[in-house]
Amino acid sequence: MKDNLAFAAHRADPLDDIAANEVDTDGAAAPSSFLNDLQAGLARSQKSISPKYFYDEQGSTLFDRICTLPEYYPTRTELGILQTHAHDMAAHMGIHAEIVEFGAGSLHKVRLLLDAMEQPRRYIPIDISGDYLNVCAQSLRQAYPSLDVQPHIADFTKEIVLAQQAPALGRRVGFFPGSTLGNFEPGEALRFLRQCARVLTGGALLLGADLVKSPAVLHAAYNDRLGVTADFNRNILARANRELGANFQLHQFAHSAFYNAAVQRIEMHLMSTCRQAVQVAGNAYTFAEGETLHTENSYKFTVDGLQQLAVQAGLTPGPVWTDPARQFCLLWLDAPAHHAG
Ligand code: AVI
Repeated sequence: MKDNLAFAAHRADPLDDIAANEVDTDGAAAPSSFLNDLQAGLARSQKSISPKYFYDEQGSTLFDRICTLPEYYPTRTELGILQTHAHDMAAHMGIHAEIVEFGAGSLHKVRLLLDAMEQPRRYIPIDISGDYLNVCAQSLRQAYPSLDVQPHIADFTKEIVLAQQAPALGRRVGFFPGSTLGNFEPGEALRFLRQCARVLTGGALLLGADLVKSPAVLHAAYNDRLGVTADFNRNILARANRELGANFQLHQFAHSAFYNAAVQRIEMHLMSTCRQAVQVAGNAYTFAEGETLHTENSYKFTVDGLQQLAVQAGLTPGPVWTDPARQFCLLWLDAPAHHAG
């Protein structure tokens, strides 16, 4: 049930029909970008690293566990909304629609849509972890033999250029569940939605987003009793040790997650429990006691706020589906009928 941060592509020559088992690979994060980004982030006065680096194999497994925790309501709430309203969503998509999923992960949620859709034509899951994507794509092909499944390995925090043209018959519908939009900074979120408006011309975006709610509920979701979120957070250091030969002492970094109400976001940090120096690729970085490495923001939204952002991006708000407690929502956003230019 992984919804990791992954997609985008830089393909210059659109090819409509690539072979069913061929994987379209472009823009996936190069190994050196982790080193460059970590070194740049450790040199800042507020040390930071992009949350996209959480998702190596271990991190993705830990995130899958987070999704099943009692405190982490977003995944099961979004699945409940999809289960209840998939037929209504499918009716908006129409016959022969194509789904483009950003940060596709295990391709689990899309099955609820595919089961409700009338003759879905093609499915393009975009994710950064290629091996995992291929395995999941293969099992989806077996479950939906008439569906054209075309995985696209790419980093969705970069530019999105799809290799395939939108279908001549049927609409292209983007699917971005899991409230991964909340892990973008507001400017990045706007840029992403603008790209969706371009890539999905003539179609629409189905966007999942976590809503503003009681700080206690939010706090619990990111501070689970079993400490899985803490392990997920610390895995970014473990990954740096594994991949970059860094020497972070994991037990000297405490998990810290809190709701910053002024900016409506959960912040995750790793707090140094003592004064210490860390080596990364020959460079030393000093942490004071109590100093933090900021690892993630998870913005929470209001329906109005999201719709305003979508309008700024050139998308037109349509129906909104939510759960009875209004914890989470899925928004329908129509893309412009023609390219802006
Ligand atoms: C992937 N993303 C939407 C999750 C979130 O809630 O922001 C990542 C996560 N971080 C801690 N727990 C889950």
